[in-house]
Order: sequence, then structure tokens, then C-alpha cells
Amino acid sequence: MPGGVVVWVVQEAIVAGSETGTSSRQRLCFKALGFNLHDTIVLAKKGTRSPSPVRYGPPPELALVLSKGMPRYVNLIKDRRNLRAGEIGEFTTRSKAGRLKPIVRKVIPPWRVRSCIWEYNLGFNHTTCDRDAFQHPALMAEPTAEDFIISFSKPGDLVFDPMMGAGTTCKMALLNSRRFFGTEIHRPYYELAVKRMRVAEAEHRRRLDESWAYRPTARR
Ligand SMILES: C[S@@+](CC[C@H](N)C(=O)[O-])C[C@H]1O[C@@H](n2cnc3c(N)ncnc32)[C@H](O)[C@@H]1O
Repeated sequence: MPGGVVVWVVQEAIVAGSETGTSSRQRLCFKALGFNLHDTIVLAKKGTRSPSPVRYGPPPELALVLSKGMPRYVNLIKDRRNLRAGEIGEFTTRSKAGRLKPIVRKVIPPWRVRSCIWEYNLGFNHTTCDRDAFQHPALMAEPTAEDFIISFSKPGDLVFDPMMGAGTTCKMALLNSRRFFGTEIHRPYYELAVKRMRVAEAEHRRRLDESWAYRPTARR
């Protein structure tokens, strides 16, 4: 729908010594379908080594952020520490016509927006703390799913994962108070996802109760 966002995760394969170009074809295909190619995020895995003596690494995993028109909601994550936080900084900006605007002096905030390269540790305790989830061979890391959910939706919005695997996206949607909806074709993975969602539901209820506990008057 207008303003809605699709996050499409793709990684090139290497066939007969060459990257397949799949992600490039998919980008053009989405454009031809009328999507706005809003952003491209590189999902970098910390500590990966090159599987080949002639390449710097495996092809990067890309997340294409697609939207119909401009995304209705964007909340960029600010988790890069500003080294000069608290100092007075001098900022210049340009008008749309390209002219320099007068210098503005502002207090430098503690955090700034992260770059388009998102790095994650993988494995137990990083991808997830749910041991059972590793029965699925292609898990998305929970922080990755969560970062996209908080960047492009607000509480109460609907998050849909059409290939939900072990249910990571739906779990992070629930824990961030979004509505969710997932489909999975392989029954054992579907059952694994449902099992994880039951645990996540209890966790979400516990977190809500804890947050209420700090605001007792708000219950009334
Ligand atoms: C890479 S995994 C998904 C990971 C998941 N999005 C997550 O957040 O952990 C891809 C999943 O899509 C499922 N799948 C493949 N084709 C499907 C289809 N046509 N409909 C629903 N699920 C499908 C596979 O069984 C597999 O579990």
C-alpha cells in the first residue's frame, strides 16, 4: 500500500567463478514493478573469513528497502557515538538551489545515525538466545529483524513475513508491540515458529507488566 515498506534480503551466489548478479536483476525488477528503491543496507557478519584465496569475502548480504512512494514512517537508528558530544559545533547546510546557508551553532548530540553498513555477531546468544531456533538452517539474527522493524514501522503497525522460517521477524514484531502475520510452507519450521511465538508472547507480557510497574498511576 502507499507508504508501506518491503525489506527484501538477498545474497549473491557464486556460480562457475562469477557472482550471479541476482540482486542486481531483482533491484531492476522491483523498480519495473513500481517500487521506490528507498535504501540499501549491507548486512555484514562480524568475523567472517573469505572462503576463497582470490576474493575478499563472500558476496555481501543486502537488504533492499523498497516502498510504494515515500515510506510513511521512518525512524533512523542513532547508535553511533559522537566523539564531540556536548561541544558546540558549527554546521553549514545548503538550500535546495545549492547555496550555502548561514552557519548554525548547535550543541553536538551524543548519538548520530548509523551508516548503511549494519554489522552483527552471529551464533548462539547473538543470532538468538533460543536454542531451539537453530533447528532452522537459515536464521535471521533477531537484532537484524528488530532494527528494520523499529526503523520502518511504529507500534501497532502490521509486520508480515511471507517466509517466516523459525519466526524471527514475527517474534521481534511482537516484542516491539507490532501486529504480525507470517506464513511458512515447511510444517516442522511452522511448528518451531509457533513454539517460539508462545514463549515470546509470555516474554512480551512480562515486559509490559514490568514497564507498568514503574508507572503505577498509569494503570488507573
Ligand atoms: C531464509 S528462511 C526465512 C528466515 C526468516 N525470515 C527469519 O526471519 O528467520 C526461508 C524460509 O522460507 C520458507 N519458504 C520457502 N518458500 C516458501 C513459500 N512459498 N511459502 C512460505 N514459506 C516458504 C522456507 O521453508 C524457509 O523456512
